[in-house]
Amino acid sequence: MPPSTSPSATAAPPDAGPAADWTFRATDVTKVYKGGKRANDGISLHIEPGEVYGLLGPNGAGKSTLVKQVIGLLAPTSGSLAIGPHDLVAHPEVARQLCSYLPQAQMPIDSFRATEAIELVGRIRGGQPAAVRARAAALVDALDIGEWRSTTGARLSGGVRRLVGFAMATVVPGRLVILDEPTNDVDPLRRRLLWQQVRALSEAGCAVLLVTHNVLEAEKAVDRLAVVMDGRIVAEGTPSSLKAEDRGRMRLQVVLSPGVPTPDGPPWYHAPVRVGNNLVGTIAEAETAAGIAWAQGLVDAGTAEEYALAASTLEDAYVRLTGHTSDEPED
Ligand SMILES: Nc1ncnc2c1ncn2[C@@H]1O[C@H](COP(=O)(O)OP(=O)(O)O)[C@@H](O)[C@H]1O
Ligand SMILES: [Mg+2]
Repeated sequence: MPPSTSPSATAAPPDAGPAADWTFRATDVTKVYKGGKRANDGISLHIEPGEVYGLLGPNGAGKSTLVKQVIGLLAPTSGSLAIGPHDLVAHPEVARQLCSYLPQAQMPIDSFRATEAIELVGRIRGGQPAAVRARAAALVDALDIGEWRSTTGARLSGGVRRLVGFAMATVVPGRLVILDEPTNDVDPLRRRLLWQQVRALSEAGCAVLLVTHNVLEAEKAVDRLAVVMDGRIVAEGTPSSLKAEDRGRMRLQVVLSPGVPTPDGPPWYHAPVRVGNNLVGTIAEAETAAGIAWAQGLVDAGTAEEYALAASTLEDAYVRLTGHTSDEPED
C-alpha cells in the first residue's frame, strides 16, 4: 500500500494532533423534508477509524438522506453529525474535506479519460502531483482496469465506470469514506478486488460507511452494520450477532403459485415473511426432513411452484427485520 493511501494529511485540519479523535458520530439525527416526510427519525451511530460499517435497508428507508446530511448537501432538522471534535453540520466545508464520497449515481466523466478523471480529483483534494499519479496507477492496477486507463468515460461500461468512480473517491481518501452501492454493475471478479481495496482503506485508518441493499456482500465486507427501516435503526451489531437468532437453522424458501393465499405454515416454520410470491422462513436443522416434506406437499397440491433449502445467512435476519428481500430492484 503506497504511503499516499493513508488518510491524507491535507484532509486534516491544522489543529488535529497525532492523538486526534477521528471517530464519526451521528447523534439523534432527524430529517423532515418539506411536505412532512420524516426520512430520518432519531438515527444515532458511530464509526471508528479502521472500521467498515454497513448501512442496510430497503428503498426509501432513509440511507441516502443520512449520507447527504453527513457531507453537507442537506441540513438535519435536528441532531448532530461530527468527526471527532469537528461539527459537520456547522462546517460543511470541513465535512467535504474530511469525507470522501462515491454517490449511487454514476460520475459525470463522459469526456475524461479514466486516469485523467482519477488524477484530477486527487489534485482537487490537495494531493501532491507525484503521489496522486502513483496512487491512481496503483488503484487502476489493483482494480484491474488498466485496459481502459485511456478510455473516455462515455465509452466505459457501467461496471468499469463504477470502478473509476471508486478510484476517484479514494485516490486521496478522507477520514470517512462513504460508498453508496459501490459494486453496482461490477463483475464478480472485480467486486472481489474492490472489496480488497475497501479493506485496505480501513487498514490505513479510514472509517468506511458502506451503503448497500446487497446483504450477502455486506455480510462479508463489514465489521458492523445497522439495518434501517422507515428512518430508524431497527437493528445494529456485527453480522454474526445479527445472525444469532438463526444459529443452527436453515432457510426454507417457497415460491408460491401466482395468486394463491399464504398457506398456514407448520409451527416450526419460524417467522415466515411473504415478499411477492416468495415465502421465506427458517427451520431448525432437526426439522429439515419435515420441512422438505411440507414444501413438497405444497408443490404437489399446486400451491407452490418450487422451494429451496439453504444455510441461513444475514439475509434471513434482514427479511425478518424489514419485511423485504435484498434483491428487490433499486430505484
Ligand atoms: N427531497 C425529498 N423531498 C421529500 N421526500 C424525499 C426527498 N428525498 C427523499 N425523500 C423521501 O424520503 C424517504 C427516504 O429516502 P432516501 O433517503 O432516498 O432512502 P434510501 O436511500 O434508503 O432509498 C423516502 O420516502 C423518499 O421518498
Ligand atoms: Mg438511496
